[in-house]
Parts: sequence; C-alpha cells; structure tokens
Amino acid sequence: MIRLVDRKKDVVDSEFAPAGIDVNTPHPARRYDYWLGGENNFEADRESAEAVAEAFPTVRFAALENRRFLRRAVSYLTEEAGVRQFLDIGAGLPTAGNVHEVAQGIAPESRIVYVDNDPIVLIHARTLLNSASEGATAYLDADLHDADSILSHPDLHATLDLDKPVALMLVAVMHFITDEHKPYELVRRLLEPLAPGSYLVMTHATDDHLTQEDLAETREANQRSGIPFQLRSTTEFTNFFTDLELVPPGISSVMTWRPETWRAHPRPEAVSMLAGVARID
Ligand SMILES: C[S@@+](CC[C@H](N)C(=O)[O-])C[C@H]1O[C@@H](n2cnc3c(N)ncnc32)[C@H](O)[C@@H]1O
Repeated sequence: MIRLVDRKKDVVDSEFAPAGIDVNTPHPARRYDYWLGGENNFEADRESAEAVAEAFPTVRFAALENRRFLRRAVSYLTEEAGVRQFLDIGAGLPTAGNVHEVAQGIAPESRIVYVDNDPIVLIHARTLLNSASEGATAYLDADLHDADSILSHPDLHATLDLDKPVALMLVAVMHFITDEHKPYELVRRLLEPLAPGSYLVMTHATDDHLTQEDLAETREANQRSGIPFQLRSTTEFTNFFTDLELVPPGISSVMTWRPETWRAHPRPEAVSMLAGVARID
C-alpha cells in the first residue's frame, strides 16, 4: 500500500527555531507573514493570527492590500517624486517587492535603510541587504519607540545623506505604538532632521468601520496575543499629517490610494487600513 506523506504536516511537526527566537509568544512580523502566506511563523503566531481573523475575517486581504499600497507608494516616490532615499521603519520580513527592489528597479542608485526590532527579521536581513551595486541598503536592529537611537545610528548616516530628501516609511507599524508612548511626538521627531522635499508615508489600521461588537472582539484577540495594538480613527490618523502637504488623493483606504488600474475590490471597511503620503517642505 502506498502511504501518502503529508509534507506540510511533517514540516509543521518538525518546526524548530533558530537560537534567540521565542516561539511561544506571537510576534507582529511573524503574524503578518502568516497572513501574507509566508513560512516564517510559529504555532503561537498562527493561533494569534487566526484569533484576529475570527474577529476580522478580511485581515489577510487587508495585509495584501497594505503590501500592494507599499509597492505603489515606493514606485510613485521614485518615479514621479524623484526620491532616491528611503528610511523604512517596521520593515517586516522580506517578501515580494521589498522597498529596495521596487525603488532600485526604477532607479538603481536608490539607498534604503531598513529598521525593525524583531529578531526573526534580523535573521532574514541578508535578503534586504541584497542591493543593486549602484545603490546601497542597510539594516538597523532598533526600536521605533527610541527615535534617537535610529536617527543617531552610524549605519543610517553611512547610507543616507540627510541633506537630501528621504521618504520616511511607517507602513503598518504605528498601530503598535500606543498613546502612552506619544506616537505623534515620535513621528515629529523622526521628521525633524529630514531635508525639504522629503516625504512621510504611513498606513494604519482603523476602527472607523467596526461595529462595537467587532471592535471588542478585535481588541480581545490582540490583548490575548500580548502585542500592544491601537486602532485609530480617520481623524486620529489624519493628525499625523498636520501641517504637511498631502499628495492626492489625500487620506484614503490603502486600496484606493493611486490604484494602478481599476479592479473589483471589496468596500474599504473590509480592509480598514488607511494610507497617506505627504511632502515635507
Ligand atoms: C505588520 S508588519 C509591516 C511590515 C511592512 N512595513 C509592510 O507594511 O509590509 C509590522 C512590522 O513592524 C515591526 N515593529 C513593530 N513594532 C516595532 C517597533 N517598536 N520598532 C521597530 N519595529 C517594530 C514588526 O516587527 C513588524 O515587522
């Protein structure tokens, strides 16, 4: 009799982690990787991801649309706005269309600094450092809560010239910064040293379209995961851009920010991710 081997099960059963990786606590980078269909996640991440998906069933779609936005925003900045430097904080695990791949695909001389605080992202950072020879990439293992440790890092200054425009990318990361950590001041601090002509790119999960019941369920799923998380309203998101010049169409759903082509997509509430790109003068 032929015994069919369930390869996927074999892989899952023999799951092991590199040294220094805590597999028992869910991590945002690994949970997001799971929603995107990646393989760098462990049981605790998958359980937490499924719990959030129960409360918010379109979360996988939201993750994909967020990633599509990121690629469009980098294309826009490189191709139309002429930006050649990127500071991508909360970079996440390498996946299709990393910032340097999109930017250097258009302008090979582009220079990118990636920042994340997750040890698993650090392990995979080599992929992010695979720069075109005309440009450069660097990876900083640093925490967004400590803006100064990022801004003063020697590798940042070796890679980016802060006298020239930089796109500060905070894509799907600010909702991990709760109000007690003063998120608005943090963003202002990060923008402070950037030259005129720089840009702020941000996406953020919103609670605008959730019913009270869904909101309570989503909050509970996140609390159980132990990952600090704060949904924000459109008004609260817009406040990050005070005094900055928003690029059309302004604040929108990640799906409807400069779509390349029309395609059928669900209502924005199924995605519940806001996007904004603004120029700093
Ligand atoms: C949802 S993923 C987004 C990845 C990528 N920016 C994207 O939008 O496709 C959020 C990332 O932010 C990182 N992150 C969360 N809190 C952070 C912090 N305080 N400092 C640095 N990175 C953080 C996580 O490790 C994770 O990789």
